Amino acid sequence: MKLTPEQLEVFDREGWIFIPDAFSPEEVELMRESANEVFRTQRPEIWMEKSGVPRTAFACHTYNECFRILANDHRLVEPLEQIFGEKCYMHQFKINAKSSFSGDVWQWHQDFPTWHKDDGMPEPRAMNISVFLDDVMPINGPLMLVPRSHKSGTIDTEHDTSTTAYPLWTLDNAKVAELVEQGGIVAPTGKAGGLLMFHANLVHGSAGNITPFPRKIVYLTLSALSNKIQKPTRPEFIAHTDFTPVSTLPEDTLANHARARKAEAAA
Ligand code: SIN
Ligand code: MN
Repeated sequence: MKLTPEQLEVFDREGWIFIPDAFSPEEVELMRESANEVFRTQRPEIWMEKSGVPRTAFACHTYNECFRILANDHRLVEPLEQIFGEKCYMHQFKINAKSSFSGDVWQWHQDFPTWHKDDGMPEPRAMNISVFLDDVMPINGPLMLVPRSHKSGTIDTEHDTSTTAYPLWTLDNAKVAELVEQGGIVAPTGKAGGLLMFHANLVHGSAGNITPFPRKIVYLTLSALSNKIQKPTRPEFIAHTDFTPVSTLPEDTLANHARARKAEAAA
């Protein structure tokens, strides 16, 4: 899937794009069920909130067939190849659960400082491209973005190892307030199946989820092949060192897999 010149222009200016209904209801159903299966297992790649509910399932494209297919989906891989002008490798793959009642916050941050400081990524030539696996509403902890903040480049950060179960390089409140004064805050919401991509230096975060509605989002972090990480300090399942270019599967692979799984279940 290629982005239009208009989408590329909006991305460059605002730092993010949301494409509603990028995935069909049958694909969403398969992905949601697969995510629930993943979160029911216990393995080192699945991190918990301080409260004990699941927070993040890392690298499930290496152990779940649906997510193996998603990691090679043309709707996620091609837009980033287009933006970077070269093939990409998978730097990270994760599902954030933002569990009902107990999903914890993601503090205000840019992605690139964590990739740079923790993994030795040279340049912000990597990006998150994500798919909503549940409906994302104003009430269940949507991702909040500060439009145009990517134009400020990479900002000084502090290593916050105690707010949540997941260490992150975060921005101080004064800097966030300054950027929000200029760009405001948007919280893209929409039905499961929507696609959201945002620049590595776009400031973002999310509040906790105290509603009965989970807010699962799957994120692929794809990096330009010329931007290989140099000094990983995090486990391989968080910062991959397999730099094989990500290829794309035939466009109907995920839908066919959903149909096959349904037929299997009905048999
Ligand atoms: C992230 O910033 O990587 C994830 C934030 C979220 O899922 O709310
Ligand atoms: Mn982030």
